[in-house]
Amino acid sequence: MPRWVPAQLKRSATLSSSATRSTISNQMSACETSRGEWTRRPQRQPRCSPTIVLKDVMAATPSAFGSFYNEKRAASDLRKYREKGPNRWTGALIQALKAEDVAGATLLDIGGGIGAIQHELLAAGVTSVTSVDASAPYLDGAREESERRGYGDRVTYVHGDFARIADSIPAADIVTLDRVVNVYPDWERLLRLSAERARRLYGVVYPRDTPFVRVSILALNLALRGPVRAAIHPDAAIEQMLRESGLTPHFSRSVGPVWQVAVYRRRV
Ligand SMILES: C[S@@+](CC[C@H](N)C(=O)[O-])C[C@H]1O[C@@H](n2cnc3c(N)ncnc32)[C@H](O)[C@@H]1O
Repeated sequence: MPRWVPAQLKRSATLSSSATRSTISNQMSACETSRGEWTRRPQRQPRCSPTIVLKDVMAATPSAFGSFYNEKRAASDLRKYREKGPNRWTGALIQALKAEDVAGATLLDIGGGIGAIQHELLAAGVTSVTSVDASAPYLDGAREESERRGYGDRVTYVHGDFARIADSIPAADIVTLDRVVNVYPDWERLLRLSAERARRLYGVVYPRDTPFVRVSILALNLALRGPVRAAIHPDAAIEQMLRESGLTPHFSRSVGPVWQVAVYRRRV
């Protein structure tokens, strides 16, 4: 099994949505305008640490996610999954979790999309799943597939923003967030509340903080101009927050140029 590599302290490149009415509460650096938009770094400025935390999550209501992660995307993701199985990074997370013996465990999958993790872990012996997603079309896709596989009665689907409804969601042995923290504005709240729900294992996939990924995300956000914007958060911040929630790093691996896959364990 790949060894845990302690996270390097990296600078973040969070790109906020200027289309939102969000307020930006964190320290602003010389890299950002007062609306949190990304600008060219002025010359001869001190190095910036442009992490922006959006405290007002109005832009991330389930309807915003539902319009972006819509029927068309859900159908396309489901078709790809049926043809080729999970994406490489999702597959790496599933393998790392299976190595921890998931038989008899419960799963809380947040932002699971069409549910690749759910389907694969149910097949590996997970007894029940709570699937929380802000996109109704993705939840429908996940339900369609689990019913097709005969696991439909073992999954509870919840349509909503987990960061707002966490109190009503039961804890589970395993909690997963696959490519979710990078699309949710108040990612720290999402991370903390989801970590608190993990009794044993916590699996997360998020973008690597590299120049290539920064440029790619910037281009993606400019091209899509949708209600959902992607962001990069520093490894060190993610690790620190999860440690503060009682979790310990157990597995970390980058998959391709973009994705970091990590598994944490609850300290006993
Ligand atoms: C990039 S997609 C990833 C889907 C799937 N995990 C995958 O990797 O293919 C992000 C998903 O997270 C969901 N999402 C984002 N923020 C969420 C939140 N706060 N609560 C629930 N779901 C959320 C979106 O609706 C969407 O389905």
